[in-house]
Amino acid sequence: MKKSELAQAKIRRIRPPAFEHINRQIPPEPHTAMYVWHKYWSRKTWNVVGEHIKTYTREHEVVFDPFAGSGVVAVEAVRNKRRAIVCDLMPVASRITELTLRPLNTTKLLEAFQRVRERVQKKIEDLYIIYCVKCGKPLVADCFVREGDELREVRYKGCPHCEHRCETKCAPRPKDVGALAELESKRIKEWYPKNQLYYDDGTPFMKKEHFDSLDQLFTKRNLRAVAMLYEAIEAESSRCCANFSKELSRRSFICVRG
Ligand SMILES: C[S@@+](CC[C@H](N)C(=O)[O-])C[C@H]1O[C@@H](n2cnc3c(N)ncnc32)[C@H](O)[C@@H]1O
Ligand SMILES: [Zn+2]
Repeated sequence: MKKSELAQAKIRRIRPPAFEHINRQIPPEPHTAMYVWHKYWSRKTWNVVGEHIKTYTREHEVVFDPFAGSGVVAVEAVRNKRRAIVCDLMPVASRITELTLRPLNTTKLLEAFQRVRERVQKKIEDLYIIYCVKCGKPLVADCFVREGDELREVRYKGCPHCEHRCETKCAPRPKDVGALAELESKRIKEWYPKNQLYYDDGTPFMKKEHFDSLDQLFTKRNLRAVAMLYEAIEAESSRCCANFSKELSRRSFICVRG
């Protein structure tokens, strides 16, 4: 454009936006309980997302996030009285978002959790009993270190009988090694997840490595514990709490084979 044309051109006044841009740092706050019940990758910091939503939208407006992931944008939108439309390519992401947003009576959920715990806590803890390397009395161990299928090390914060701590390099007693080998060799009668690591057309999952099904990622002891937990949740009378707890335990089942 020539200089003379430019002078004649009607230049529209640029209107300032109806909001003030965020022009400051927003110190991130730690994730709260509602965001840490799952392990979805790349979860954004809730209070930073919330500040953006409050700045750039008004109450009752719609916030759209096409790459929702674990749904931080959706949850913060709803918490701040906006409406949300979100989607994600990954079904598990949508499920996490839906579960985090689902209204639930937390008192009833806590009561249901306590009933489940009463049914199953002792049975699960029994799977993790070993004998103190110092006094020889039973305790529930915190950690087992294996090489392949062989138990090499046991760890616990303090023996309830003699207060001995085993934080590292504690060789297990031979009877613990034997008990674990027996546990690993027994068939599990109850249901536990055995999903194949293949798509419906037979293509293997890209990251499946040498495993063929979900259960191969876990030890038999893990699977036995999860089977007991599922059974206890199934026996729960409050269906809404049972379904919710089942989803929670399924998503937070993270004790992978080491
Ligand atoms: C970085 S994560 C989003 C994390 C999210 N902001 C949070 O706080 O949890 C990106 C997401 O985009 C999804 N995604 C990638 N490509 C997509 C596509 N073409 N359509 C829909 N979602 C997609 C991925 O599955 C992933 O969940
Ligand atoms: Zn002891």
